[in-house]
Amino acid sequence: MVKKKNIFAIIGSASSNSSNLKLVEKLASLAIEEFNLTIYDYLKTLPHFDPELSAKNPPRKIVELRKNIEQADGIIICTPEYVFSIPGGLKNAIEWCIATTIFSDKPIGLITASANGQKGHEELQLIMETVMARFTDETCLLIQGVKGKFDEQGNLTDNETETKLINFIKALMKLL
Ligand SMILES: Cc1cc2nc3c(=O)[nH]c(=O)nc-3n(C[C@H](O)[C@H](O)[C@H](O)COP(=O)(O)O)c2cc1C
Repeated sequence: MVKKKNIFAIIGSASSNSSNLKLVEKLASLAIEEFNLTIYDYLKTLPHFDPELSAKNPPRKIVELRKNIEQADGIIICTPEYVFSIPGGLKNAIEWCIATTIFSDKPIGLITASANGQKGHEELQLIMETVMARFTDETCLLIQGVKGKFDEQGNLTDNETETKLINFIKALMKLL
């Protein structure tokens, strides 16, 4: 039997009722045969980036986050756009990783799911290119008007988005 790949999925939203979280939960159910997917929705609990600590004495939560990234076969970042940019919590987490090489050559899927999200999506790609993560156009997905794609029970009701998620999973599998 082929061993399932371990994917670590980081949720960029700061909201508890997050569409990005719902999207990744849906993605996990669609990819149940392909991935073991661990969802990380704890960016809010991380300390503020501190360059004095980053290289020599990183806080425990940062050590854990880095280990999760390092040990995963692939990463997914699924995030809204905040003020035409990536959310501060996500940027903070990435800043804590700059003293390392954990993203170098790491297969990654980048999903921006937002009201509009275009600028944030471009920025996320630039940042991940800078840390030398490995991705393709097919593992980058922009989902606009995301809130309208779920019903009140949190079910994805948009077939086009579901198809996009399926194609995203296939593309990410090719990268692993
Ligand atoms: C602080 C804040 C700033 C936002 N700025 C933007 C923005 O610049 N562009 C955009 O498309 N949506 C923006 N939004 C709306 C989010 O895209 C929308 O709320 C989205 O559903 C958030 O994803 P979530 O449900 O996973 O939290 C903003 C939301 C918040 C809370």
